[in-house]
Amino acid sequence: ADAEQQAHFDDLIAADSRVEPRDWMPEAYRKTLIRQISQHAHSEIIGMQPEGNWITRAPSLKRKAILLAKVQDEAGHGLYLYSAAQTLGITRDEMTHQLIDGKAKYSSIFNYPTPTWADMGAIGWLVDGAAICNQVPLCRASYGPYGRAMVRICKEESFHQRQGFEILLTLMQGTDAQRAMAQDAVDRWYWPSLMMFGPPDDASPNSARSTAWKIKRFSNDELRQRFLGMLVPQAEALGVTLPDPELHWDEDAQRWRMTEIDWSEFHEILAGRGPMNAVRLQNRRDAHEDGAWVREAAAEYARKQAATAEN
Ligand code: ACO
Repeated sequence: ADAEQQAHFDDLIAADSRVEPRDWMPEAYRKTLIRQISQHAHSEIIGMQPEGNWITRAPSLKRKAILLAKVQDEAGHGLYLYSAAQTLGITRDEMTHQLIDGKAKYSSIFNYPTPTWADMGAIGWLVDGAAICNQVPLCRASYGPYGRAMVRICKEESFHQRQGFEILLTLMQGTDAQRAMAQDAVDRWYWPSLMMFGPPDDASPNSARSTAWKIKRFSNDELRQRFLGMLVPQAEALGVTLPDPELHWDEDAQRWRMTEIDWSEFHEILAGRGPMNAVRLQNRRDAHEDGAWVREAAAEYARKQAATAEN
């Protein structure tokens, strides 16, 4: 890179402008974006599975229609994000192979099972709630295609969060067994949802650079704090208990105090040893193989169209 190109890039970042696909950018910036955006896309696609599991068993036609729409939204988010990553010079095929070969990361959260209907509520409320906290600031990410994709994604995520809250609220207004089911789901999803924000700031190797490049606007711990601030009053409104007896607001420090997160669980999941890692990847591989005929037919159609155009 010559100094002029670097200076132009630095100016764009300093001015809070956007870097666009055709602009020169440092290789490390490109790589970081491919890493983050592709991981994010994979998370959306793998994230269809825990809820897809309940589409055929949703308790009413209305619930089924809502859940179906939500899972379709997630597919859409994945596709937007793969497209944004493609503008950086990686192909969809390469990203897909990184995922199905087990080389790519995707969010830790999607490696937990969904044994009850209340899990649909807890995922919407906690998982999509955490996703919104993390993703609203990404709407201002310095890379144009990523930031713009996040705008629509966040609108849909906020609908997802409300539908989850409403599922839990309905259960909490039901029978004792329904309330117990809702509380059990909250107990199981609470800690994993806090882990979604990533390792603590002093163990987050990518943060400093991503913040300097204005991809990240807040640190992992800052976002976790914001999330707690959102959850506590909502838990009260629902009548559920957050499963951390230590959780309280420290007025002097102006922050939430809590029991230390069990990071060994997080690292086990990242190493592929979570409860559902193997199942999630196998399903994705099977879906890819089952879709081979569609890809072949599309390629053949494109070939024929091109041949017709030539004649
Ligand atoms: N699950 C899996 N891996 C994670 C998680 C997580 N919850 N949190 C952090 N990691 C990984 C990082 O990807 C990084 O690994 P890598 O260097 O091999 O890529 C490593 O742990 C260290 O973390 P950080 O240095 O903090 O990484 P980073 O600066 O990228 O921050 C974060 C992590 C906050 C997840 C960031 O990448 C991000 O904001 N991503 C976009 C949002 C996203 O992907 N959401 C997906 C779930 S939400 C949904 O799909 C509904």
